[in-house]
Amino acid sequence: MKRILDNIVEECRPWTSKGEVASYIPELAKANPDILGIWVTTLGGEEYFAGEYDFKFTIQSISKVVTLMLAILDNGIEYVFSRVGMEPTEASFNSITNLDSHEEKIPLNPMINAGAIAIVSLIHGDTIEEKATRILNFTRKITGNPYISINDSVYESEKKTGDRNRALAYYMKGNGIIEGSVEEILDVYFKACSMEVTSKDIARIGAMLANDGVLLTNERVISREACRIIKTIMVTCGMYDASGKFAVHIGIPAKSGVGGGIMAAVPRRMGIGVVGPALNSKGNSSGGIKILEKLSQELDLSIF
Ligand code: DON
Repeated sequence: MKRILDNIVEECRPWTSKGEVASYIPELAKANPDILGIWVTTLGGEEYFAGEYDFKFTIQSISKVVTLMLAILDNGIEYVFSRVGMEPTEASFNSITNLDSHEEKIPLNPMINAGAIAIVSLIHGDTIEEKATRILNFTRKITGNPYISINDSVYESEKKTGDRNRALAYYMKGNGIIEGSVEEILDVYFKACSMEVTSKDIARIGAMLANDGVLLTNERVISREACRIIKTIMVTCGMYDASGKFAVHIGIPAKSGVGGGIMAAVPRRMGIGVVGPALNSKGNSSGGIKILEKLSQELDLSIF
C-alpha cells in the first residue's frame, strides 16, 4: 500500500501545475502550489501516507460536513433538512442564484456556502465563542487530534474579504431562513473554515464516516442514519458543480475545500485525506482529484 501511494503521488505531481492556489482569500494565496500529499486510515486501524502528508492547511469547506453533523446532533435530521435542502446544483459554491432555485427559498444543500451558513446558524451555544469552541472540540474529537486550532490570519483574512458570504447571509435573513445576527453567524462560519488540519486529520473524519458514524476507538459520534444521509449528500454535492463527474470517474463520497484538502470516505473500507493547494476552476484540488482517481482505479474503490 505504501508503495502504491508513493507512486501515485509522484505520478500526480504534474497536475499541481495545472491549478492555482485560491486567491480570493488573500491569506490562502500564500500557500505553496507544489504541495501534494495523502493519508489513508483503514477501518482496521492501519495508516499509510505519502508526499507532504503533514502539510498544514485550513479545512475550509470540509468543515461543512463537520458543522452539518453538529447541527444534526443539536437539532435532529428532520429540523435541519426543513431549513436546508438536499438537492445538487450546477452553480458555483458561492453562487447567489442557488438561493432562488428552491421552492421554499432555503439553500439547495448544506455543502454550498449558503447552506453551510444556514447550518452554522443552527448550532447551539449562547455566544460566538461557545459555538466556535463546540465546533473546534467536535473536530478534535472526530479527528482524534486535540491540538487542532484556528489559523487566526486566515480567519481575519476571510472576515475582511467575505462580502459574497455576507450577501448570501443577508439575503437569507431577508427571506426568514436564518435568524439572529448575520455578522455573528458569519464569524462562527469563518472560524470553522479556518481550523488548521493535516491530511491525517481529514482522513480520520473520512474513516469515521466510512465506519457508519463510529470512531476507531469504537465510540459512536453520529447515528448510522445521519451518516448515510451525509455520505449521500457528499456524493451529490461534495465536489460542488463537479460532483457528477467526480461520482462517475472516482465514485467515492468526498468533500473538498479551497485550502486544497479533499476528505473522502470509502464505506466500510477507509478514510482518505489528500492535500494539494493548487485548485482547478471549480475550486477543487487539481492534484488531489488526480490522486483519488488513480487510487480509486488501483484499489477498485468506486461505490457504484
Ligand atoms: O466561504 C468561503 O469562501 C470559504 N471559507 C470556504 C469555501 C470553500 O472551501 C469552497 N470550497 N471549495
